[in-house]
Amino acid sequence: MAIRLGDKAPNFKAVTTEGEIDFYDWKGDSWAVLFSHPADFTPVCTTELGTVAGLKGEFEKRNTKVIGLSVDPLDSHEGWAKDIADVTGNALNFPLIADHDRKVSDLYDMIHPNADDTLTVRSVFVVGPDNKVKLTLTYPASTGRNFDELLRVIDSLQLTAGHGVATPANWKDGDKVIIGTGISDEEAKDKFPGYETVKPYLRVTPQPR
Ligand code: BEZ
Repeated sequence: MAIRLGDKAPNFKAVTTEGEIDFYDWKGDSWAVLFSHPADFTPVCTTELGTVAGLKGEFEKRNTKVIGLSVDPLDSHEGWAKDIADVTGNALNFPLIADHDRKVSDLYDMIHPNADDTLTVRSVFVVGPDNKVKLTLTYPASTGRNFDELLRVIDSLQLTAGHGVATPANWKDGDKVIIGTGISDEEAKDKFPGYETVKPYLRVTPQPR
């Protein structure tokens, strides 16, 4: 059964490059990104994991923990970590799950048999402090993900969770935002003084801080 937005992210225990973890205990009340890659010692995955390692500070600023996964065993992850550092200049600085028995992959539906019978696709789950799934993404093995986009989405998720606003196409931190349709004009005047009405259903305002 696919995991959908708003679902509780299933908990699990797993062996990782940073020891055994219980997902909920490891995550605590932070945000989390759980992402899979198809296989160790492969070109696209090497660039992806190094890129994520290089963004550690950006994830930390967003109170977001990151954890990766593939079905390769622990000794493979450990050997590959040296290549990731060599190639990208970024040492692995987040746990990588060794999901040799596919327990987590199956739980999160990360193996798509019509794409590949055994390897995980490039899945991403963003999980909120309430342990609910806020975002899912699925990319094929041949396409490396844009992790700047992932940071942008986390910015939007964190902003929209607290302020009754939504973010428009291609929004980035600091741009104007959209006032949620659930907020009346009266309320909007109070909450977002000076907001602009583009259409009755499209009202914009500077990004709340
Ligand atoms: C890659 O990371 O380049 C890759 C991994 C698995 C299948 C195809 C490509």
